[in-house]
Amino acid sequence: MIKSNVYDCTMIELDKHHHKKGNITVVENGRTVPFEVRRTYYLYDVPSGESRGGHAHRELRQLIVAASGSFDVTLNDGTGVKRTFTLNRPYQGLLVVPGIWRELNNFSSGSVCLVLASHEYDENDYIRDYGEFLVYKKR
Ligand code: TYD
Repeated sequence: MIKSNVYDCTMIELDKHHHKKGNITVVENGRTVPFEVRRTYYLYDVPSGESRGGHAHRELRQLIVAASGSFDVTLNDGTGVKRTFTLNRPYQGLLVVPGIWRELNNFSSGSVCLVLASHEYDENDYIRDYGEFLVYKKR
């Protein structure tokens, strides 16, 4: 996915079941996301003004959901093109393909960033240095 670009990343509309006692959104392997979910994690209690991310992945695919509140995800494929998505609906997910630098910021108070991921945690899958990322994308 060295050649991936920010237009390979898209917002996916998740199904939303209305109920008078509250809504429910379901994500199923093979139906909702174009990868098998092997790990789920969530960011919460992010201090005001703090940013997260600041890295790319070599193989990992992710679906990022604002389970509560809102935040921005800025994607960058190293070509100078950036796309910023505001996530603020629990029934929408941003699909992020490998080879994309991402920054998450503008977390609202109480927001929860839910991430469904295609692989278990592997620090070797991360590119945390932006210069290294640019070299990786130019290979
Ligand atoms: P990181 O993915 O760098 O956070 P973010 O992109 O949200 O800013 O993860 C922060 C730290 O958390 C990382 O150094 C190791 C730990 N971590 C795990 O142990 N397992 C995981 O699945 C994740 C996502 C992070």
